Amino acid sequence: MLAQHLRVEQFRSLVKERTQDFVGREFVFKAIQDFLEGSSNSDFKSGYVVIRGEPGIGKTALASQLVKRYGYLHHFNIVTQNIRSPRDFLADICAQLVVRYQLSHGALPSSATQDSGFLSQLLGEAVEVARARDLLPIVIVVDALDEAEDTGLAAGANRLFLPAAVPEGVFFILTTREKEEYRLSVDRRRDIYINDRGEQNLADVRLYIETFFNQFREKMMARLIEWRITEDEMLNAVTEKSQGNFMYLVHVLRDIRDGHLTPTNLDSIYDLPVGLKEYYKRHWRFMREQDAPRFRDYFEPVVCILASAQEPVPVSQLVAWTQSRWPHLETTSIREVIRVWREFLDEERPGQGPPLYRIYHTSFRDFLREEVGLTPYHDAIVLTALNKIPGFFGSANLPM
Ligand SMILES: Nc1ncnc2c1ncn2[C@@H]1O[C@H](COP(=O)(O)OP(=O)(O)OP(=O)(O)O)[C@@H](O)[C@H]1O
Ligand SMILES: [Mg+2]
Repeated sequence: MLAQHLRVEQFRSLVKERTQDFVGREFVFKAIQDFLEGSSNSDFKSGYVVIRGEPGIGKTALASQLVKRYGYLHHFNIVTQNIRSPRDFLADICAQLVVRYQLSHGALPSSATQDSGFLSQLLGEAVEVARARDLLPIVIVVDALDEAEDTGLAAGANRLFLPAAVPEGVFFILTTREKEEYRLSVDRRRDIYINDRGEQNLADVRLYIETFFNQFREKMMARLIEWRITEDEMLNAVTEKSQGNFMYLVHVLRDIRDGHLTPTNLDSIYDLPVGLKEYYKRHWRFMREQDAPRFRDYFEPVVCILASAQEPVPVSQLVAWTQSRWPHLETTSIREVIRVWREFLDEERPGQGPPLYRIYHTSFRDFLREEVGLTPYHDAIVLTALNKIPGFFGSANLPM
């Protein structure tokens, strides 16, 4: 009964993936622990710790590392997996509370997912158990508040129906992008802003680059020779051009290692793209210039339709969606596009059935939406769905 609401299994691979190469962030962990232990603010005995930062700075990785390190209860909002509703959140966290603190509820009442009432009740019950067993505080990590659904909420309600007040000993650690209107009005709150240009963030950026170098030393040494620069010069250049963004580092270091960014297609290391958006723009343009017809007929439609999907999908679904406008796309050619663009995609392998694909990072999806335009691809998905309704395109509904 409760198991159906739990998403821990679903999040396991995300947590694993985002933490496998995790480095640094000690200053954030320290700040969080200070808040939780009340050493810096003795009046902060419960409430919200809100971690803010720009897209790709590493909030989801940080949330994942918190889960891995401390085993906190957790929920990740993931637009591309269609996990973003208050219902998903409430059912998941309520079920986790019942299981973790062995509360006597065999199932969740239907009211559990309608507002924060039942969640608040469970938090109260869980605190009693945790206090008796010396397990306080109760910490719940919620990633990407900005990705959570914002429609259909009662006026004045918080996103995800997060309760304004929580019992003593309970903390929510939320992450959110910096500029979003995240609709959170709570009694007690502390903020941690990961400043991309801040010294501590830049120290972690350097640590990431150094770790990458050590991990792929032989290959990277060979690249340095091609670039005719020293390790220090590369470290400084990549740090500066990254603008403190981790998603940038992941892409650019991989491209340098694998010979996609070389002195042949870039005059000098100082011509690296500046920041994540510029990296996406350049990569998109570069791929187009490599082979314009292949880009137009294969890469663009498949990547853009993936960016328009609301959930991870198998290749067969991509074939169905592209059939009306791009009939030349079939299983083999779509697989080939996926192979070429693998670095930008996430592959899920459910127990049985074919692998499922989605865009790896929201920031790339945002780039496609803002710079390339996804309307035709959304339309193609809608059209496929309507085509399935018998008689929809009968006389009354013929498209104009
Ligand atoms: N401290 C870190 N150590 C190693 N890799 C990291 C670290 N932080 C982030 N990364 C990697 O950088 C990439 C971007 O990070 P992440 O997805 O956490 O960003 P984000 O802040 O959640 O972005 P968004 O706002 O778009 O959700 C991921 O591939 C992640 O694994
Ligand atoms: Mg994130």
